[in-house]
Amino acid sequence: MYSSASVLDAYRRFDRAFRGIPHTICYAVKANSNVSILRLLARAGSSFDIVSGGELHRLRNIGVPGRRIVFSGVGKTREEIREALRAGILIFNVESEAELEVLAEQAAHFRHRASAALRVNPDVQAGGHAHISTGHHQHKFGIDWDDVRRLFLDKSRARWISWRGVSTHIGSQILGLAPFRRAVVRVSSFVRSLARAGVNLSYVDLGGGVGIRYTNETPPNLDAYARAIVAHIRPLGCRLLLEPGRAIVGPAGVLLTRVLYLKRNRDKIFVIVDAAMNDLIRPALYDAVHPVTPVLRRRSIVVRADIVGPVCETGDCFLHDWPIELPESGDLLAIWAAGAYGFAQASNYNSRPRPAEILVQKNRFRVVRHRESQADLIRGE
Ligand code: LLP
Repeated sequence: MYSSASVLDAYRRFDRAFRGIPHTICYAVKANSNVSILRLLARAGSSFDIVSGGELHRLRNIGVPGRRIVFSGVGKTREEIREALRAGILIFNVESEAELEVLAEQAAHFRHRASAALRVNPDVQAGGHAHISTGHHQHKFGIDWDDVRRLFLDKSRARWISWRGVSTHIGSQILGLAPFRRAVVRVSSFVRSLARAGVNLSYVDLGGGVGIRYTNETPPNLDAYARAIVAHIRPLGCRLLLEPGRAIVGPAGVLLTRVLYLKRNRDKIFVIVDAAMNDLIRPALYDAVHPVTPVLRRRSIVVRADIVGPVCETGDCFLHDWPIELPESGDLLAIWAAGAYGFAQASNYNSRPRPAEILVQKNRFRVVRHRESQADLIRGE
């Protein structure tokens, strides 16, 4: 269940923080790709960062024009590149020379010059968990500084590729400003050296990655984050692109779940709920801690319990040893900060239909995705 006020407020705060320079917020669709959320953001003026033809399809479906779309990702297929060229997207963030080859080939085929940026791997360590840190040279993302420079200076594809920018993304759930500072310092000095060599870029895309509070983290203050970046970008005269995902939708969502059973094994208490790792995989995959609270207070004794789902895996546990007012079966619990990478990473594991999605606007709510049925499970098999 999502709060539209929370999504819009986060978007506007992000946008306002950068008001001092030309900038475009490209919301990272992967964080929450429900078309109603996308429509909300599109109406607020957001642009979008996509990583697949499927995400492009969602945006085209609600009438988002190509010039409000940037395309990232290490493995864009020929077909996806073609669709994006046809849509006339703002920028392809190219992540390898081999991909550049295909982009040039397809651009030539359509006789439509591609507007491109190279994604540099800045070799900066950042990110909350090993699985979501991306900006180090051992990661698959981006291209080394030396190769990026060589590709920008290589004129052989100039007919079909127009170099518009440089992009980077150093990781996700980043809580300190230092990694962002390191990245922007490197990227901006690179842009200057490129200009001296005759390649003038109009866009610098610094990706996403701003962390949020799940339990007791202190996320970066957006104005401080903006200050750290703006000082380096303003002198370049480039438009700044940013690709926040989690910071826009993460805090806006809760996963509501009902208590099925209570169970005691010796001195351990298990609260067995009807949501599971297939609905929200972050705890199992990243050791993420999403707080759980009762929706209605019961004023019962507080116990320490494991909050677990019905899936047949030990990893299907939302929280270990979590203090909670002892619930009863049938009680509703809220699992917090589930708006980003929640439904987007949900699956049908254990043949569990995925949950409904609800959007709350003021004192109204709308079902923005129907609860899946058992028939949905075997469609296509
Ligand atoms: N731009 C690019 C190129 C990205 O790869 C990502 C996220 C973003 C922007 C948005 O990053 P954000 O602002 O949301 O941190 N499933 C993981 C997070 C994976 C992030 C992947 N890339 C999680 O649940 O923590």
